[in-house]
Amino acid sequence: MDAVHLPQDDEGLDQAIHNLVYCSRAAPGMDDDSIARIIATAKHHNPRFGITGLLVFGSGIFFQWLEGPRDNVTSLMKIIHADPRHSNVVLLREENEIRDRLFPDWGMELVEAADIRDVLNDAKQEATDAKQKKVLAEMLNELNTGSLQQLSKS
Ligand SMILES: Cc1cc2nc3c(=O)[nH]c(=O)nc-3n(C[C@H](O)[C@H](O)[C@H](O)COP(=O)(O)O)c2cc1C
Repeated sequence: MDAVHLPQDDEGLDQAIHNLVYCSRAAPGMDDDSIARIIATAKHHNPRFGITGLLVFGSGIFFQWLEGPRDNVTSLMKIIHADPRHSNVVLLREENEIRDRLFPDWGMELVEAADIRDVLNDAKQEATDAKQKKVLAEMLNELNTGSLQQLSKS
């Protein structure tokens, strides 16, 4: 996976991170090329706005994890929300807290639906504080029991 390395100077340990996670229904006809275009756009824009995260696409569902400065994440989410390439956007969690980023090297990484649990579990293993572990445990629980169960049932 090719990581985008962000400048470190906005990454102080006491920096509040705005974390937003949502899922949505992909528009009909979305294929690998369409997803690749979204990822390319995200990798182009996100690092300049200090935004990191991951995008999963499976069974016609998107799942996206965004982290960064609050204003930038909120502005980007407005743009993403209005994008006709998906609909039925459901916010799964949003919080602003002082902690390290969970995916600091990913400007926007495409994760296979089958791998999302492993990715979140690995991040949980490497988590440096209790807040990070809590966020990840809650999202793993959501994947196992909630509306996201079908994500990896392609
Ligand atoms: C599921 C989904 C996720 C997206 N994620 C991002 C993202 O992380 N960053 C981004 O800049 N655009 C993302 N986009 C694209 C934006 O909605 C929008 O098309 C893009 O930012 C516009 O960039 P442009 O003005 O350079 O064409 C996403 C779109 C979809 C459908």
